[in-house]
Amino acid sequence: MAWPPDLNYGTRDGTLNELSQKLLSKSKKLILEILRQQTTLEWGGYRLYDGTHTHLHQNPEELADFIFYLLKYQKKKKLKKFLIIGYLDGFTDAILNKFFQFEEIVAVDTFQEAGSGLLFRANLKFKNLTIICGDSTSDRVVNNFNKFAPYDLVFIDGNHSYDFVKKDFENTKNVVSKGGLICFHDIKAPSAPDVGKFYNTLKKEKDYTFKEFYCDWTPMKTGIGVVHKKK
Ligand SMILES: C[S@@+](CC[C@H](N)C(=O)[O-])C[C@H]1O[C@@H](n2cnc3c(N)ncnc32)[C@H](O)[C@@H]1O
Repeated sequence: MAWPPDLNYGTRDGTLNELSQKLLSKSKKLILEILRQQTTLEWGGYRLYDGTHTHLHQNPEELADFIFYLLKYQKKKKLKKFLIIGYLDGFTDAILNKFFQFEEIVAVDTFQEAGSGLLFRANLKFKNLTIICGDSTSDRVVNNFNKFAPYDLVFIDGNHSYDFVKKDFENTKNVVSKGGLICFHDIKAPSAPDVGKFYNTLKKEKDYTFKEFYCDWTPMKTGIGVVHKKK
């Protein structure tokens, strides 16, 4: 096959065309390589940290495995609605949207953390996105994201302290569709031990099954934990 696969893809609406989607979906190696280009050495990528905060805040190996897992999952159940708590500059959301082209994305953030304004603005485009500004655990925000429920996929990556992570889970577990997924970022992060602590407590519950993605050789340790609601 000629390379690149199709020069016209994605230039108008940011989505992958069918050919590129097929190509990427078959090759985890290719996805991994693309993700490595997007982030810094600390995260397991190729870029040097330059202070612009325009890099991806994900471990490429974990994210590639996670995307592959979701692509497989999607053969049984389409991921239509996505709730992300902790949007930052929207980079992770934009990458996931390339693969899943969500019918609705709801993103929650206080926007208290430093990120790239340029990246933030660019990542607002080409998606069905509603942003809710504020504390994810506040009644106002919860009432607002409830309006778009049910969600097929929830990604929790906001405030990493125990009470907030627990509340984010408690507030989202009932707005997840039957068979839907709630994911936690940083289940293995030494800088955010409460996330792993809460996730490990949750693993004792019988209503869910669990799947983890963790790459241990990068300086920045993160880990993604997926909670699959059985009923
Ligand atoms: C680690 S960053 C998210 C990274 C993002 N998920 C990504 O992959 O690029 C955490 C984000 O959570 C936001 N945040 C912190 N506390 C929050 C809260 N209580 N409610 C909502 N967002 C919060 C921060 O402003 C920050 O943007």
